[in-house]
Amino acid sequence: MPNPFYDRDIVSIKDFSKADLEFVFSATDKIRAMKPSERGELGKGRTLGYLFYEPSTRTRMSFEAAMASLGGSFIGISELKSSSVEKGESLADTIRIIDLYSDVIVLRHPMDGSSRFAGELSSNPIINAGSGSEEHPTQALLDLYTILKEKGKIDGLSIGIVGDLKYGRTVYSLLYGLANYKVDVHLISPQSLQVRKESIYEIQNKLKVKEHTDLDEVLPKLDVIYVTRIQRERFPDLQEYEKVRGTYTINSATLEKARKDVSIMHPLPRLDEISTSIDGTQNAVYFRQASYGKELRAALLALMLNENPAL
Ligand code: NCD
Repeated sequence: MPNPFYDRDIVSIKDFSKADLEFVFSATDKIRAMKPSERGELGKGRTLGYLFYEPSTRTRMSFEAAMASLGGSFIGISELKSSSVEKGESLADTIRIIDLYSDVIVLRHPMDGSSRFAGELSSNPIINAGSGSEEHPTQALLDLYTILKEKGKIDGLSIGIVGDLKYGRTVYSLLYGLANYKVDVHLISPQSLQVRKESIYEIQNKLKVKEHTDLDEVLPKLDVIYVTRIQRERFPDLQEYEKVRGTYTINSATLEKARKDVSIMHPLPRLDEISTSIDGTQNAVYFRQASYGKELRAALLALMLNENPAL
């Protein structure tokens, strides 16, 4: 199969087939097995440019670390106050400029549609690192890869997604990705944070989804629990946030009632939705998940920058 990622924008998981997803997972396995010296050839002389209009820890650092591991370099803006965005420069002009200085562009922006827009303007490929509450496709790729590595498969699993299903962009990208597999999905959220029906309309015939407000009711069935943070910054009314914060907490009592081998995932950052007391258990997958993220992003960059990288 020819490399489907070469010189291509990564805007939405919906743009990729199941074969495309599997291609990047297999490339990630190969990248992980490579010697640092071999890996260091894949991005030599190339530059990643990033623009973060919203805070980030893992996404930005893992892209930086991934690019460095390929022998490439990175430039970018994550402190908007020290850039011309502060003077009023438009997103379009900022994209046009970073496009001149880099070979691949990583963008996080609070507006839905921002990455699609940027992709139309730039000559180099764009990676959507979060567009409003719409999507975060590389997070979904690393989430699916994590499930595959931790469980040995994706098909046949029962997956619970818990928390803020209304505003959490990682949830949507994950659901679009899961629609390629035969899985049972249980969506667990307060009534006011249920998934946006119009955003999953297209996948409704491909994915079996059940909604719940009570986690305990489905807990014993779940192979994976994907926990999300309540997205405080996206609430139009903070009083509404106060009503739902702390609704679900995963702790040792939760693990008692769950399957012994349940995998607890989280895109992070976590606030109080996962107790630190379970961090040391085999069930806590979230830090390994962040580590897979660096490797998967390295594979993705290698595929985007090289037509035939032998991955
Ligand atoms: C997420 C995001 O930015 O959408 N973070 C991440 O990239 N791992 C999740 C969140 O902010 O809750």
